[in-house]
Amino acid sequence: MEKKWWKEAVVYQIYPKSFQDSNNDGIGDLQGIIQRMDYLKHLGIDTIWISPVYKSPMDDGGYDISDYYAIDEMFGDNQDFEELLKKAESLDIKVLMDLVVNHTSDEHLWFQEALTNPNSKYRNFYVFREGIAGQPPNNWRSYFGDSAWTAVPDEENMFYLHAFTKKQPDLNWENEELREEIYTMINYWLDKGLAGYRIDAILNIKKRIVEGQLPADGEDGLAFIGQWILNQPGIEVMLQELNQRTFKLHDSMTVAEADVPSERLKEYIGDGGFFSMVFDFSYTDIDVPSTGEWFKFSHWNWQEMKKNIYNSQLVTQANGWGAVYLENHDQPRSINKYIPEEYISTTTKKMLATLFMLLRGTPFIYQGQEIGMTNIQMSDLADYDDIATHDQYHRGILAGLSPEEALQAMNRRSRDNSRTPIQWDTSLNGGFSTAEKTWLKVNPNYREINAESAIEEKDSVFNYYRQLIDLRKNSLYQQVIIYGDFQPFEEVAEDVIVYQRILDKQKILVAINPTSEIFEIEIPEEFEKYLLSNYEKAQFVFGKLVLKPYESIVLSNY
Ligand code: GLC
Ligand code: CA
Repeated sequence: MEKKWWKEAVVYQIYPKSFQDSNNDGIGDLQGIIQRMDYLKHLGIDTIWISPVYKSPMDDGGYDISDYYAIDEMFGDNQDFEELLKKAESLDIKVLMDLVVNHTSDEHLWFQEALTNPNSKYRNFYVFREGIAGQPPNNWRSYFGDSAWTAVPDEENMFYLHAFTKKQPDLNWENEELREEIYTMINYWLDKGLAGYRIDAILNIKKRIVEGQLPADGEDGLAFIGQWILNQPGIEVMLQELNQRTFKLHDSMTVAEADVPSERLKEYIGDGGFFSMVFDFSYTDIDVPSTGEWFKFSHWNWQEMKKNIYNSQLVTQANGWGAVYLENHDQPRSINKYIPEEYISTTTKKMLATLFMLLRGTPFIYQGQEIGMTNIQMSDLADYDDIATHDQYHRGILAGLSPEEALQAMNRRSRDNSRTPIQWDTSLNGGFSTAEKTWLKVNPNYREINAESAIEEKDSVFNYYRQLIDLRKNSLYQQVIIYGDFQPFEEVAEDVIVYQRILDKQKILVAINPTSEIFEIEIPEEFEKYLLSNYEKAQFVFGKLVLKPYESIVLSNY
């Protein structure tokens, strides 16, 4: 197995609007990140991924970029970003940015030119199509609901494509001139010292546009766009070129947001693949129907969850390298998703940490996860900022949900659940900002859940994450945890998750009981060394483990 720095990394994702506000306007910013960098060092991570900070009207949390070269004023300026890079370097922390090149904001100059000057070259930077008798060219439903086509103002029977909201027109990757612009931009940032990128929505860049009425898959008469724009034949040529003209030249780390079919995975994440690794959604979107309409709840259980984790691990292992995570800015808090309300506790939070941090792959911790932050219960739709939440709410109502039911669905799944400000201490707004009003409400439980007390309390979720990171980075078990093979341990009850990591003679065993029952399991006697558990006293005799409710335990054979 080829060694790479990014295989050994532990990444921490920062959602900048909610991390730390330094000038008290209620919005997090770059200086805020700089101020809190020592906290991240103390946690032990070595790489940060910062969600978009480029100039943007912020219709989709910055995933709608209007200038790729400028930092948005709300976050600071380009000088602040240089300072952030320096501070990170001084602490030996690498920095990844988000790369959003499937689409731009409709306020990007390119798109503005394309509209006002249909004969300019920028028209061909996007996807414009004539409609059919005033109707969109086809009945695709965008990822966030509603038609994926929007009529061009002041032009007759003309539409532009947007896989996400109408404020995010899709770029035309068939156009070489556009591609060149993108490569120049990527290299500009990499030359500044960026270690790489998290790549947004990249599997959508190749479109297979079919005109006319397609078979509908919903009450709205629309058809889910993914079928025609996700991972289409020919995309490999584009991804290959992208890699060779940019990332490869800098030995960058790239992590693409991409559910890739297993038969193509090697091309993507194998040695010399298009990306270093990808995020798959098989276990994080386990509660979401395949159409992506998360106002509907898709029932799941731990057997399915276990199957998906094992499958993801084994397929990734057979083809290359992977990223492992339970949370990001598009997910609700993992503790609320996976654990019933009455069992939410420090213990179960540690169990989830153990479950994913020791899998094979580069672990990604999302801000606040390390202190056990939870979902927020908004009582008013207006308190939600996320554009997709508003879309999903209305789609829920259209599908027959009552306003209460629709709001409940948002409470459960809204992306704002993980976007609330970081809870640093017990002061006003949890220490995030001294502004009267923060851009999104602070979760009122900041008095109990906050970084300050988490650092102090020996048995906190935070200190448990530190232990896990330390185990992975600095211990005797470093090599097996990073480079060891993943092997499911099959001889256990259906609901229990037990896996081994194996590197030559070194082995560790991770046992997770994600239920409220007690399980006794037989394990090979060689696992005689106890490393870590989420309970104060793990019960453990050679050859046998008694797993208490929600217990997780880590053993080794040396
Ligand atoms: C990705 C981002 C998400 C964003 C979408 C459109 O899924 O993670 O936050 O809304 O792309 O850019
Ligand atoms: Ca601010």
